[in-house]
Amino acid sequence: MRVRNDAARWLRRAQWSARRSAANRRRGTCFGVGIVLGLGMLAVAPLMLRDGNNNNNNNRSNNSREHGLATQDDAPGSRSGSGDLRGAYVETPETKEPARRRPVTTIPSTTSPERTRRVAYVVTVTDDGPFIDGAAVLAHSIRKSHERSRYEAVLCALVSPRVGSASRNALLFLGFGEVLEKELPINVSQIEGQTLRSLWSTDPKKGGCCGAWELLKLYAWTLTGYDRVVHVDMDCMLLQPIDELFEIDAPLVYTSDYNMMNQKQRARKIEPAVQGGFLVVKPSLDTFRSLVAVSQAGHWGGNYGSGWERSGIGGWWGGSTIQGLLPYYFSRVSTAPAVEVDRCVYDNMVDKAVVDPGPRVGASACRKTDLNDVKFVHFTVCQKPWTCNPNRDPDDADRLCLRLHQVCVATSRLRCRP
Ligand SMILES: *[C@@H]1O[C@H](CO)[C@@H](O)[C@H](O)[C@H]1NC(C)=O
Ligand SMILES: *[C@@H]1O[C@H](CO)[C@@H](O)[C@H](O)[C@H]1NC(C)=O
Ligand SMILES: *[C@@H]1O[C@H](CO)[C@@H](O)[C@H](O)[C@H]1NC(C)=O
Repeated sequence: MRVRNDAARWLRRAQWSARRSAANRRRGTCFGVGIVLGLGMLAVAPLMLRDGNNNNNNNRSNNSREHGLATQDDAPGSRSGSGDLRGAYVETPETKEPARRRPVTTIPSTTSPERTRRVAYVVTVTDDGPFIDGAAVLAHSIRKSHERSRYEAVLCALVSPRVGSASRNALLFLGFGEVLEKELPINVSQIEGQTLRSLWSTDPKKGGCCGAWELLKLYAWTLTGYDRVVHVDMDCMLLQPIDELFEIDAPLVYTSDYNMMNQKQRARKIEPAVQGGFLVVKPSLDTFRSLVAVSQAGHWGGNYGSGWERSGIGGWWGGSTIQGLLPYYFSRVSTAPAVEVDRCVYDNMVDKAVVDPGPRVGASACRKTDLNDVKFVHFTVCQKPWTCNPNRDPDDADRLCLRLHQVCVATSRLRCRP
């Protein structure tokens, strides 16, 4: 069973479509949702055809706010030196072609009618690799869910300098309207903490998923042209709108990953690991800079005891970056606290129940969550739907993994052959 995926044809198409995307973006179509649909695309077309539009021209208003990109006018932060999104596509859109309004994504806010409220969904790519099926499923799911949202959704990608042009073009093709190359936000040779300095001086990819490169996720806070930025991993699906989270006034809305911690850490009620696959961020350059400062100091492990600054927070997998840095920062450094939400609703990984003690927020057993209550699913324990091999863990008695895979296959038009 497999997803149709002919790499060579895929890349030819992706490169071709990236040129189309570039042309679209010159017309002011940043988020390019479904930019090249209806063209018989090979690898991911089945995922996208259901949108049924081939709108190369969205006849969007001239208002640059609507272009899905920050400009110097509406992104005060971009003036102060981050450079993100600056000088993005603000040319007057062409209106020669017959206009077809994209049927998805832009639904005026009911509470703020004077302007469309926008959120960016952001992914980080640290290396070339087989991420494209996941990215296609994710992008499609965001488009579908935002048909029912009051917020306009924009897709963007942060990539390391190692990521090649084929991957970047593939992202553009999938509708990631901005692909922003980013260097590490810290200087590894200048880290004070000896443990992280020597670890990352040897190999910055070491530790957790991607080592220091995991810190590219911090750039989510720099995208100040958006009301909120949702940083997500590429093995996820948005099943329902999450507007209620965008209304929370906090620098970070997150779910905890209790199962990332050991029994002792949970019993001591150490500030729990932040699940790195789902972060709702309120952009702020100040927050970005202070997070980078803590990370640059790098007082993690070694002389500094377990976790960050002997706090024990972050003494786990991925703890030296996002999954430990964020809980440490928002519980011990920041005056504005982060807000935890139910991991079974907003980042359901169908992982084992959290017991003794139970979670601070939300349900204990995500495997028991009603399918209709899951708003965001993260395919870790379940395996990836596009590999067509769902986890059949006997402990998942209600077969939530299987059912989530079925939802994914049905809504994405993935084809799994026996
Ligand atoms: C877009 O802006 C240009 C120049 O500011 C103006 O001439 C044109 O009428 C505008 N188009 C629309 C659709 O508002
Ligand atoms: C295109 O936009 C202009 C200006 O906003 C509007 O007057 C016109 O009706 C739009 N055309 C279509 C087909 O939506
Ligand atoms: C890191 O710091 C060292 C020493 O100050 C400096 O030589 C180097 O250029 C810096 N690297 C980066 C990427 O800024």
